[in-house]
Amino acid sequence: MKVTVIGLGYVGLPLACAIARKTKHSVVGYDISEEKIEIIKKRECPIDDEQCEKDLKEISFNCTSNSEQIRGSDIYIVCVPTPVLNDYTPNLEPLKEAVLEISKFLEKGQTVVIESTINPGVCEEIVKPLLEEKTALKAGVDFDIAHCPERINPGDPVWNVYNIPRNVGSTRAETTKMLADFYRSFIDNEVNEMPDLKSVEATKIIENTFRDINIAFVNELAKSFDVLGIDLVTVIKGAANKPFAFMPHYPSCGVGGHCIPVDPYFLIERAKKSGFDHKYLKLAREINNSMPFYTIELLANGLNEFEKSIKGAKIALLGMSYKADVGDIRESPSLKIEKLLLKSGANLTVFDPYFPLLSNVSNLKDALKDAFAIVIATDHKEFLNINPEMLANTKVKVIIDGKNCLNKSAFKEAGFYYKGIGH
Ligand SMILES: NC(=O)c1ccc[n+]([C@@H]2O[C@H](COP(=O)([O-])OP(=O)(O)OC[C@H]3O[C@@H](n4cnc5c(N)ncnc54)[C@H](O)[C@@H]3O)[C@@H](O)[C@H]2O)c1
Repeated sequence: MKVTVIGLGYVGLPLACAIARKTKHSVVGYDISEEKIEIIKKRECPIDDEQCEKDLKEISFNCTSNSEQIRGSDIYIVCVPTPVLNDYTPNLEPLKEAVLEISKFLEKGQTVVIESTINPGVCEEIVKPLLEEKTALKAGVDFDIAHCPERINPGDPVWNVYNIPRNVGSTRAETTKMLADFYRSFIDNEVNEMPDLKSVEATKIIENTFRDINIAFVNELAKSFDVLGIDLVTVIKGAANKPFAFMPHYPSCGVGGHCIPVDPYFLIERAKKSGFDHKYLKLAREINNSMPFYTIELLANGLNEFEKSIKGAKIALLGMSYKADVGDIRESPSLKIEKLLLKSGANLTVFDPYFPLLSNVSNLKDALKDAFAIVIATDHKEFLNINPEMLANTKVKVIIDGKNCLNKSAFKEAGFYYKGIGH
């Protein structure tokens, strides 16, 4: 078959590589970013993904920003972004644009697979009418629409596109079967055939909403236990040795990334349109969105102990990525923390080894040099080495550990003001 992957980002690029490596299909990778295509053509990897870096060195496929080259594909797989707008409503424009591009080439017998995360109903309510209107073909009769949500976890050393189980559903049972076999040809794990599009769409959304709600639970506990004087991290570790029915989640300065802080809004908004109000999901979002503010509150309390305020204080913000050891800033709580600190008049130094352009110093030593307080917002490996000895000859007095990743007792014993989140 000819298989085209549309959108070569964290999801699409590893996928195109996997199909090219494991199958005999002819693979086309299409992206509107000419810059990205040029990088990939040089066999360089534009994303942080070790397996993908390796794949690009060892295999090749046709990479293009010329949409003419997607013509005649048996399967078009859409992996474009589906973010939310500033008001948290889903932005489906990139998805619609990709689908419109496909509609120029769509023929009978072909299949359009959406891998991008979408709310229940997008395939039938948006993708289907767009394609049918532009092509005069009928979905489920002349061509098929399918959904096979990606679950990739960038930076994960174990789980990747080759071994994460998948769910797939489409407009026709025989197409679902065909696609399941197609995915099985390069995925070494279960590919579950689901009965309809809406169920697959909803599956992905509830996975990420589950995470958001559980994180909101521990984030709320962090605030409560700070008042009660209980160390939540110790409590979670205790609860986690229950061998069944407890799954540890940990509090932090906020939830970031392209999925967890975004996907619940997809369901909230779609359910609202049908008259259902998701109170629980909205509350979880509200709690998680409040964590950068809470982090600033903890910092203000710390500075207060030294009769200082954020205004004019020399503060080092360490880490801009939304998670450790990954150069991805999407929806990162660090961005909010930075904004709040600047708004409060902090004399701010920012450092993230993955983002030299967002940093105003080039190394950790310079970031710590004149700081009175540090705020750890990402637990990059480089920051885990920060210890009392390292800070002994600096002016640092206050440490706000937004990821609970440093040795609390070592700092306390050495006389620093240390405060984690619920820790
Ligand atoms: N990143 C993750 O961890 C992850 C995990 C699971 C699911 N997802 C979902 O997968 C989808 C893609 O996410 P991502 O992280 O790969 O995004 P990304 O931003 O890394 O990559 C998307 C790519 O699509 C390209 N693009 C945008 N519009 C296009 C168009 N009209 N035609 C062709 N190319 C276009 C962009 O240039 C970019 O290279 C999203 O829906 C996301 O929610 C992401």
